[in-house]
Amino acid sequence: MSAKILQGEEIAKRILEDLKNKVAGKRLKLAVVQVGKNAVSETYIRKKEEATAKLGIGFELHKLPQEISQAELKRRVEAIGKDKTVSGMIVQLPLPKHLNQQEILDEIPREKDVDVLSSASFGLFAFSPFGRSPVGRERLPILPPTVGAVSLLLKETGMELKGKSIAVVGAGRLVGLPVALWCMQKGATVSVANKDTKDLSAVTRDADIIISGVGKKGLIIGAIVKRGAVVIDAGSSVEAGLMGGDVDFESVVKKAGFLTPVPGGVGPLTVACLFQNLVVLKSVWS
Ligand code: GUN
Repeated sequence: MSAKILQGEEIAKRILEDLKNKVAGKRLKLAVVQVGKNAVSETYIRKKEEATAKLGIGFELHKLPQEISQAELKRRVEAIGKDKTVSGMIVQLPLPKHLNQQEILDEIPREKDVDVLSSASFGLFAFSPFGRSPVGRERLPILPPTVGAVSLLLKETGMELKGKSIAVVGAGRLVGLPVALWCMQKGATVSVANKDTKDLSAVTRDADIIISGVGKKGLIIGAIVKRGAVVIDAGSSVEAGLMGGDVDFESVVKKAGFLTPVPGGVGPLTVACLFQNLVVLKSVWS
């Protein structure tokens, strides 16, 4: 038996097509801050730029040097945040190690935080579904883009998350952390593996759903996947110019019930969800 392949690219095309009508006549602009060089980030920035061109949204790339100081980067991000012509902004991660990442992300104003990475936006995302949100009755009207993408892919499987056993592999800021929180909010039993996890197989082998966002090729092999499980590959790494995920496709496709490909799975859907966020934030805040 072979897994059903979940084509994120096709869903993404439908979302972008729908967004095209929604953005027509609106003056929208996405600003991206890139510090130094990173192959994965470059690929994603290119994809985002291509999408703005298709949608008719403005695009502005701020390429800053690897050695930039914390104070200077903070100043630049704050200035972009205040620019009235910018409707949404992104600080590409990872930032160079000498920088305090969260302090920089906290300069992104909520109304422009399409990635849900500032403490204010992330706090609202984390708490809202558990009842009263931290700021009065306010609720975040968007989801972190990777969560949006994972949610749409899981919807395709028709599976209810409540009561399911989910293994999240990787505890990073862009995938693992927000996805694990969201799965908890949905009533799943969630295990999160990180780089110090001694026995990855012990975390994944009984999981109904595996969601991996590490950026390490071949990490998830068929032997550590339960037969019939849903496997969502949200990892991205670039090797010899080619984008790859965390999943060893050959072995996992024979074991899983559903599987997302890389490229063509989570990646394009994440980009589509980001633009959906841009449009929602614009309508909520203007
Ligand atoms: N680096 C790689 N992908 C992304 C993304 O979607 N958002 C941000 N902020 N950084 C990234």
